[in-house]
Amino acid sequence: MTPRRTVVSDSRFRNQEANVKDYFEEIARTFDSYYREDADTKGLVGRMAHRFFRRPGLACRFDATFRLLKDIRGKHILDVGCGSGVYAIEIARRGGSVTGVDVASEMIELSRENASRAGMAQNCTFVQMDLIEFCDSTKSFDAVIAIGLFDYIKPDKQKLVLDRLFSVSTGDVVVAFPKKWVPGALARKLWFFHKKLDVYYFTRSRIRKLCQGSGRAVEYVNCGPLWCVRFYRDSF
Ligand SMILES: C[S@@+](CC[C@H](N)C(=O)[O-])C[C@H]1O[C@@H](n2cnc3c(N)ncnc32)[C@H](O)[C@@H]1O
Repeated sequence: MTPRRTVVSDSRFRNQEANVKDYFEEIARTFDSYYREDADTKGLVGRMAHRFFRRPGLACRFDATFRLLKDIRGKHILDVGCGSGVYAIEIARRGGSVTGVDVASEMIELSRENASRAGMAQNCTFVQMDLIEFCDSTKSFDAVIAIGLFDYIKPDKQKLVLDRLFSVSTGDVVVAFPKKWVPGALARKLWFFHKKLDVYYFTRSRIRKLCQGSGRAVEYVNCGPLWCVRFYRDSF
């Protein structure tokens, strides 16, 4: 009799999508606080990591995103993985209208609260849905942003997701990609491993590969630990 082989695999990562949703449901309010002065960071290491890595990255990608989007007055923008609505509210403030979509219901609830508090609710719509489902069921937008999303998309789905974003934009697509070779990347990976999540990093050649065949020109803004990338509708 041939002995049966037992394959031992780590079931923790079997369902990255479900784990991502659970994670962001749980940390929605903490995540929202990262944009404020009184960020909810725990312990000395947490405070240091926030001060030296997270906060500068968040500030730089926020500025870079709006620099890349240029004038958005009168435009209708899709914010994919909108989180607690920080970008969506700024789009509304700058005269655009926005649809934010996020898989985590807590994030959507917070987005609505934050948009009301900011007096921007009338120009913001928030939808709780997985992005693929949403993109398959929607009409198109003047531009699409996806900030802090690709960190959690499995490599075998990254091209599909980017193609879907292109498919619902009649204009540009702006995406933030965390860099692979930066201080803090390994520590972050280990932190997420402990949270049963995988986090993915990018090189410029990986980003180029993802948009191969789209014919789009690409502009990079260097934001320290991440790239803010504008995929133009047309090639130059
Ligand atoms: C790191 S947060 C970024 C939030 C916001 N864009 C920002 O930068 O403040 C990533 C967000 O993407 C959402 N997300 C992850 N996978 C998603 C998916 N497949 N469909 C929709 N939202 C998703 C998460 O729920 C989370 O709120």
